[in-house]
Amino acid sequence: MSGTLPIPWNATVSRRRDVNERVKVLWITPDSGRVQPFDPGQFVQLGWPKPEDPAGPPPTRVRWNKRSYSIASSPGESGGYELCLALVDQGVLTPRLFDLQAGERVWCDDAPKGHFTLERIPDARHLVCVATGTGIAPFVSMLRRYRGTGRFRKLTILWGARESSDLAYHEELTAAAAADPSVRYGAVVSREPAGSAWTGGRGRVQSALADAAFRSTAGEPLAPDGTHVLLCGNPAMIDDVRVLLEARGFALDTVKEPGNLHFERYW
Ligand SMILES: Cc1cc2nc3c(=O)[nH]c(=O)nc-3n(C[C@H](O)[C@H](O)[C@H](O)COP(=O)(O)OP(=O)(O)OC[C@H]3O[C@@H](n4cnc5c(N)ncnc54)[C@H](O)[C@@H]3O)c2cc1C
Ligand SMILES: NC(=O)c1ccc[n+]([C@@H]2O[C@H](COP(=O)([O-])OP(=O)(O)OC[C@H]3O[C@@H](n4cnc5c(N)ncnc54)[C@H](OP(=O)(O)O)[C@@H]3O)[C@@H](O)[C@H]2O)c1
Repeated sequence: MSGTLPIPWNATVSRRRDVNERVKVLWITPDSGRVQPFDPGQFVQLGWPKPEDPAGPPPTRVRWNKRSYSIASSPGESGGYELCLALVDQGVLTPRLFDLQAGERVWCDDAPKGHFTLERIPDARHLVCVATGTGIAPFVSMLRRYRGTGRFRKLTILWGARESSDLAYHEELTAAAAADPSVRYGAVVSREPAGSAWTGGRGRVQSALADAAFRSTAGEPLAPDGTHVLLCGNPAMIDDVRVLLEARGFALDTVKEPGNLHFERYW
């Protein structure tokens, strides 16, 4: 925390939902009272003041530690940017953000950024969204915004988390899939205690991409024609799933070469 300078906070935590001890959903409202226009899949940055150097010259401005957070809300929603955060115990920012209560102040870069959107994907494709942990956030935004619009033919969301209690949007995704045959959803958990009440899949998210499991969730096989896969979250998952999908005929989307495999690494 900065010591001598006034802190130019520019936003407020308007709401907080405690999912469990290490996963929280925060709604951040800029002082303007408005969220800026954004596309599902984009992120904003939150910031916390860097400590002043007591041995250095008096600071002339506050310096910030900044981190990116994908927006889970749909562009049309009021109430601020909805962000889903995991606590990184030794992290610089998340231990501070996790203490914030509704009504408390924070710094937010009020200009959503990022290219992990559907911008380069044509309408009416099968979108297969693979997330680990809080990497689900962009897909929640896409679901909320595009469901029922014809933007996708089918949206299959496959989500891997450590424990079932980490699945911050499980009820919303389960309900969407139950109500709409064009929305498919499967969750797998890797560290769920044996004997818990969880009846869904166990293991890593790759198990949901295996032939029988995928067909059971999506209602069709995983094939590159007319399908785009989007990966988000843990970079090791992205590396591993990319290899798996390239072997099945998917091709990375790059600026030079359009492809049907897209990703967003969280670190
Ligand atoms: C485009 C983008 C969008 C992001 N969106 C989200 C989001 O919606 N929700 C979210 O929780 N995080 C998100 N992140 C990660 C986020 O920006 C921070 O890195 C994270 O909150 C940790 O910050 P920290 O300062 O506490 O830890 P740091 O001090 O920055 O990180 C310490 C170490 O923790 C590990 N780490 C970083 N992030 C994570 C993570 N999420 N899970 C597990 N280990 C991690 C890395 O090894 C890192 O080196 C996103 C990152 C990017 C680049
Ligand atoms: N969830 C917890 O129990 C817990 C507790 C305290 C602190 N934290 C901290 O919270 C932060 C975020 O944790 P998180 O659980 O949200 O994210 P995470 O560590 O990325 O784990 C989310 C999911 O991704 C899986 N995964 C990891 N590598 C993978 C790969 N190569 N391919 C496919 N899946 C892979 C994990 O499986 P594996 O389980 O097999 O790794 C887990 O199912 C971490 O810094 C963590 O230390 C978490």
